Amino acid sequence: MAIDIYELKLKTNLKNPCNIIIGDSREVLSRFPDQIFQCCITSPPYWGLRDYGIDGQIGAEQNVEDYIRNLVLVFREVRRTLKDNGTLWLNIGDSYTSGNRGWRDSDKKNAARAMSYRPPNPEGLKNKDLIGVPWKLAFALQADGWYLRSDIIWNKPNCQPESVKDRPTRSHEYVFLLSKSEKYYYDYEAIKEPGVNGSLKNRRTVWNINTRPFKEAHFAVFPPELAEISILAGSMQDSLVLDPFFGSGTVGQVSIETGRRCVGIELNKEYAEIAERRIKNSNPGFL
Ligand SMILES: C[S@@+](CC[C@H](N)C(=O)[O-])C[C@H]1O[C@@H](n2cnc3c(N)ncnc32)[C@H](O)[C@@H]1O
Repeated sequence: MAIDIYELKLKTNLKNPCNIIIGDSREVLSRFPDQIFQCCITSPPYWGLRDYGIDGQIGAEQNVEDYIRNLVLVFREVRRTLKDNGTLWLNIGDSYTSGNRGWRDSDKKNAARAMSYRPPNPEGLKNKDLIGVPWKLAFALQADGWYLRSDIIWNKPNCQPESVKDRPTRSHEYVFLLSKSEKYYYDYEAIKEPGVNGSLKNRRTVWNINTRPFKEAHFAVFPPELAEISILAGSMQDSLVLDPFFGSGTVGQVSIETGRRCVGIELNKEYAEIAERRIKNSNPGFL
């Protein structure tokens, strides 16, 4: 059952296959002890792209530096609660400056793109500039003590078409692999990919994975395959996996399917309930 942060001490049982906690990940994580998670797999809200309609949401900051600072604080708590040999798999996409328009119309193909606010252009950037948010965040995390081990391109063969005529259509996002220590748990055998003549080769840094909408969620969800690769490489059977931006619960779902346990934190109660229903429907024994 999704639990409110005020019930956290009473009801969280880390032996459960999945605990969903409703609250701000900064606040919720501060209540967890050090070194309990083997890996963290997550996709924070992108800066200025979606309105999740709730106070305290990350991504709605007016200023990109504040957004990066907020995420560094969340991931500092993630680092504390990760085992010393743990890893963070962080999916993040980029965006363009808003051209100082304070809103965005809903899109015929994607109503969730509508925004009642849009942040102004970051200082020093012009209209139409690509902001470079993923690398700003990656460098800020590196400066905060994380080991930045790999940038992975998530290539989306079925990406949304764009009506632009002065640049290529964006069809990728980043996944950064970061570690807490120089040496860490990484099961390279578990995620090998097909090579020549039926052989297997070490996983490459470009992952071709179609996006898959989840019908109840009005926001970008992880394709289960992306979560699965990260979980298989980053954890063992029965490990505890963390997703501090749980959304529709893809990481929880895949954790259970692969024999791991999961803690998911989600600020929006409605989304936490969507995740709970999804996980209960496909795992009748859940809680
Ligand atoms: C990109 S979505 C995650 C989608 C998820 N990977 C999935 O597969 O459904 C980001 C989520 O972070 C949540 N969120 C935003 N700010 C938060 C905060 N401060 N603490 C916890 N969750 C937050 C949003 O409500 C949203 O559900």
